[in-house]
Amino acid sequence: MANVALVTGAARGIGRATALRLARDGFTPALVDLNAEGIAAVQAEIEQAGGTAFALAADLTALSEIERVVNCAAEQGTLSVLVNNAGRVIIHPFFDVTEAEWDAVLTLDLKTVFFAMQFAARRMTNGGRIVNLSSISGRGGRADQAAYAAAKAGVISLTRTAALALAPSNITVNAICPGVVDTPMTQEVHRNRAQQQNITYEESLARMTAKIPLGRLETPEDVANAIAFFCSPDANYITGQTLNVDGGMEMD
Ligand SMILES: NC(=O)c1ccc[n+]([C@@H]2O[C@H](COP(=O)([O-])OP(=O)(O)OC[C@H]3O[C@@H](n4cnc5c(N)ncnc54)[C@H](O)[C@@H]3O)[C@@H](O)[C@H]2O)c1
Repeated sequence: MANVALVTGAARGIGRATALRLARDGFTPALVDLNAEGIAAVQAEIEQAGGTAFALAADLTALSEIERVVNCAAEQGTLSVLVNNAGRVIIHPFFDVTEAEWDAVLTLDLKTVFFAMQFAARRMTNGGRIVNLSSISGRGGRADQAAYAAAKAGVISLTRTAALALAPSNITVNAICPGVVDTPMTQEVHRNRAQQQNITYEESLARMTAKIPLGRLETPEDVANAIAFFCSPDANYITGQTLNVDGGMEMD
């Protein structure tokens, strides 16, 4: 029976790297994303490497879609892992944030995380592992990311609440705070910041990299390694924790 790991936002970036890694670790990833072509390509990559995976295109801002993909994943084997990775960021100065921007970010980055846990935990009948993607933006404040930082701080809180609620079902729940990961999301952040601060994209990225103690951007694989740890037997007794995986940028 396949050991299914549902990974949201699996078409690119951290989600793609996580799916590839979990497939190498013996899971069958259920690849969920808005981008149907992207998840089909990741599925092909996994299968070429000798693994198994299946792709489920969905817009995870709709509760009915979250429920549908969780149920599809659970029907493919034993649902044992959920990685809540799909997310979006909107870079806008504090005074310019609109209600629509606030709702869009809080819906995908917080509400979807909660309901994906609720639906998935109901189907994890043999225990399980949930890993939520927070961010170091949720540890400190961010002047141009009000909604995103609030949502990611909320993910840390939800992780603790879910760890308590799901411990009796032998489901562990942990979160990861990546730093500055080399993905399309980070490229978009720095294109926007560069425009708003009237500097070049390269300068915006260089200023950020200068703040990283380990002196380089994070790779999606750096994050996937930590996610794989939380999904491994070595993490059996860890729950309710939030781990910074950020090259030393945040130490709390
Ligand atoms: N990139 C970073 O530096 C960084 C830092 C800290 C935290 N994170 C978090 O890690 C996670 C992944 O980040 P990334 O950089 O790989 O992002 P990314 O933007 O490169 O990829 C996100 C994926 O989510 C998918 N997605 C977006 N909206 C969706 C929806 N409504 N339904 C289904 N899928 C949807 C996108 O199609 C995309 O494939 C996010 O939660 C992000 O907030 C990223």
